[in-house]
Amino acid sequence: MPSQLWQTKSIDKLIADSEEPGHRLKKSLGPWSLTALGIGAIIGSGIFVLTGTAAAGEHYAVPSLLHAQILDIVTSLIQHGNLSTAMLHGRPPAGPSIAISFILVAIACSFAGLCYAELASMIPIAGSAYTYSYATLGEIVAWIIGWDLILEYAVSNVAVAVGFSGYFTSLLAQVGITLPQKLSEPIWQNGVRTGAWFNLPGFLVVMLLTVLLVRGVRESAETNNIMVIVKIGAILIFIAAGAMLIHPANWKPFAPSGFAGIVTGGAIVFFTYIGFDSVSTASEEAINPQRDIPFGIIASLIVCSVLYVGVAVVLLGMMKYTTFLSGPAADAPVAYALRTLAANRWVQFTVVVGALMGMLSSLLVFQYGQTRIWFAMSRDRLLPGVFSKVHPRFKTPHWSSWIAGLVVGIPAGVVDIGSAADLSNIGTLFAFVLVALGVLMLRKRQPERPRGFRVPFVPLFPILAIVFCGGLMFALPVITWIRFLVWLAVGLVIYTLYGRRRSEFHAEAKARGLGAQS
Ligand code: ALA
Repeated sequence: MPSQLWQTKSIDKLIADSEEPGHRLKKSLGPWSLTALGIGAIIGSGIFVLTGTAAAGEHYAVPSLLHAQILDIVTSLIQHGNLSTAMLHGRPPAGPSIAISFILVAIACSFAGLCYAELASMIPIAGSAYTYSYATLGEIVAWIIGWDLILEYAVSNVAVAVGFSGYFTSLLAQVGITLPQKLSEPIWQNGVRTGAWFNLPGFLVVMLLTVLLVRGVRESAETNNIMVIVKIGAILIFIAAGAMLIHPANWKPFAPSGFAGIVTGGAIVFFTYIGFDSVSTASEEAINPQRDIPFGIIASLIVCSVLYVGVAVVLLGMMKYTTFLSGPAADAPVAYALRTLAANRWVQFTVVVGALMGMLSSLLVFQYGQTRIWFAMSRDRLLPGVFSKVHPRFKTPHWSSWIAGLVVGIPAGVVDIGSAADLSNIGTLFAFVLVALGVLMLRKRQPERPRGFRVPFVPLFPILAIVFCGGLMFALPVITWIRFLVWLAVGLVIYTLYGRRRSEFHAEAKARGLGAQS
């Protein structure tokens, strides 16, 4: 018998637990609603903000090891025997080759997406990678991943909410309404106090969406469908209008930093793809999860990759990549390029409104996913019971929803986008690696269990997911790794003091006389 840390939950028991009255969620989502849920989460602020900065690169005035990427450090050590080149680098520009980064990251995500799809079709239970790892890798890994997913969902939503506030404030300014700076900017920017009191739009948008989520998933999914149509329309309008303003000379040099720029760019724009996995968090509310969850994941990934590559090719054909290094061109590259090249005013307005819609639907799905993961962790008694209480009338986890609202809304009123995207990338990539491991493990341990969807070419595809996602993690800077490891350490302390003692396996392990070992 394994010790408590490595105990796995039986999949049959997971499914049975989810059927308990009072813990059951309403099944209301079909394949297209799930695809829209995926697109709603995937297209957020990333494509509208990070495309330009990833293409332009970053240059630090003071070289610091904290900003060096792990890959650069290793290369520098191997080639020169010291850290000099890693320290000076900053971040190399990808230039127009950021379009290739988007394609490579989409391929990496597809491998991970197929793994998610297989596990989601086998284990149609709320909780996503957390639940899968409880069934495959053991309680301690499940806890780590559940804790890690907070980085993906909550931290990225903080970033998106702050981005929303920035775009919203500038849209209001366009129509002549100026919000007081003290109530519309983060309190901290790059570690320095701005003098602002609170970023009210960032906080309020999260709270409004929380009300929607508490009211029920059906209403939220319908609202999401409309927002998805609007934002795809806005992106297509940008591509069509921007294509008229392309100067092919801007595409040269295509890859100013070669492959290094493409990989580093990929580690940044990975943020733009985060979200497709949230489709799997809705398994328990899907009408036919075996068929529809894999469909939703893959379909949303394909639609978004095509749109992203289109935006990247057009944007970097409109203006030289160096334009997006800093200032308004870095904050809102898409809007900046349209404005500077004097595109039609209605086109400009539509694209900005579409960008806002994109951020709204992304925020909505991530808030949704966060509550469902807490719901699952609480049902397993690793978190307090309040997180899995279901509203008697709306049948939604209302307490989780309000807590998630405050946990994201308050920091969104305080911090800047800063490194939130990087931190959320590393957490997500780590989750993907564990999910791919889970597929390999379950194929070995439970080959006979029915799978609504099977990853082709096992073990090759899960291994490729691990290699690609692991590689992207190493293209992130040292400071992000430090924050990530600190986060995991805090999680382990909480597990040791709370979850481990309350888990059902604790009593079992004690009864077997294994308590001391665990
Ligand atoms: N993929 C989401 C975005 O780009 C997080 O905003």
